[in-house]
Amino acid sequence: MMAPTSSHPPSPVPAEAWAMLGRTDLEASTTWDFPSQSAGHPEAGDASFNGVTPAGCAANLVRRYTGPGELVVDPMAGSGTIGDVARALGRRVVSFDLAPRRSDIFRADARSWPLSAQTAALAVIDSPYSDNVVYSPDSRCLGRISCRDARFYEEMEKVASEAYRVLRFGGILAWIIADEYRAGVSTPVGFRLLGFLEKRFEPIDTIVLVRHHDRSASPMWEHRARRFNFFLRGFKFLLLLRKPEWTGRTSREIVAALRERVGIAAHRRQDRIVERAGRHWIAWRSRQADRVFAEIRPLRGRVQVFILPRPRDLMDSAGLARRAPRSQGWGWFRSRFELTSMAQVEPAARLIVQSYEHGVRKRNGGRARSPARNKQSL
Ligand SMILES: C[S@@+](CC[C@H](N)C(=O)[O-])C[C@H]1O[C@@H](n2cnc3c(N)ncnc32)[C@H](O)[C@@H]1O
Repeated sequence: MMAPTSSHPPSPVPAEAWAMLGRTDLEASTTWDFPSQSAGHPEAGDASFNGVTPAGCAANLVRRYTGPGELVVDPMAGSGTIGDVARALGRRVVSFDLAPRRSDIFRADARSWPLSAQTAALAVIDSPYSDNVVYSPDSRCLGRISCRDARFYEEMEKVASEAYRVLRFGGILAWIIADEYRAGVSTPVGFRLLGFLEKRFEPIDTIVLVRHHDRSASPMWEHRARRFNFFLRGFKFLLLLRKPEWTGRTSREIVAALRERVGIAAHRRQDRIVERAGRHWIAWRSRQADRVFAEIRPLRGRVQVFILPRPRDLMDSAGLARRAPRSQGWGWFRSRFELTSMAQVEPAARLIVQSYEHGVRKRNGGRARSPARNKQSL
């Protein structure tokens, strides 16, 4: 007997795409313009909070980039809009802020997230973009640093580095930021931020979030803008980026970049690095000193490195090194650290070079010098 056949040929449009067509409330273009903060989500956040995120923006991000039960992080939660929307849509939420305004938002610094690595599907960061709004008296508030000060970008880079650590591979970073125009000086904060985010993340797109309720949106300010030939801020950027998927190629690129940098340091001493590779590890030995100074293990999602000096004897400005377990490498290796992206290659290579120097010195009968004198520029 023949199997019954459907009278309709199979649709070339996947079922999920048909489902998306029904969701006309999802934004389709790169201009997002929500008439009010709470449109469609009356309970989310507090519309009177200075710098509040439009609930519609949060809903679009959560629905596009996460599934039910996945973790959404809001590390500068303010009045809590992003967490409220994500929870209402059935996602798990972690919201924190330096100055929490509600009991379900806990106190933490966005430069040190209280979360394990590779756990979140989406991080939405609506950060201060200069020192124009006083959010709290806490001296760690990033809204106390002007966007004209280089330190503003250094601190934001620490926030980005935490987002990178906590997002899973393929996870999404959404960052809301505005440019500043003050006293005749224009600062393109959005482009600068995107510039350093691209070191770790892959750009997906840039959305223009139309601003409606700024204090400067008044006839008096509009008059001044025309009279003195400047523009009022009409939008914020919503930068959308993805933490790259981890592939075997990522580990190979990291190991190759480390090898190149350590090789240069050895070459300066007329030395060469001899590499031995096992199935799960790579060992680097100084030919001159005949001493192994680093062992590298490419793992899924990270590259683990073991080196000779103790953490306290290292110049480690990025704070990567931890104590190695005694069992590692017959007890030679005293420190270990992990790389999860190419962005960590420079500080990691500096640590390996210190291990190389340490190995060479020991071989020549020298004593390990103090960390300050150990400093090696690559
Ligand atoms: C633009 S507001 C966030 C608005 C929020 N999404 C809402 O809908 O209400 C920026 C927030 O960043 C917080 N903040 C500033 N520096 C911080 C830091 N170092 N760590 C955590 N939060 C910080 C401020 O306290 C403020 O609540």
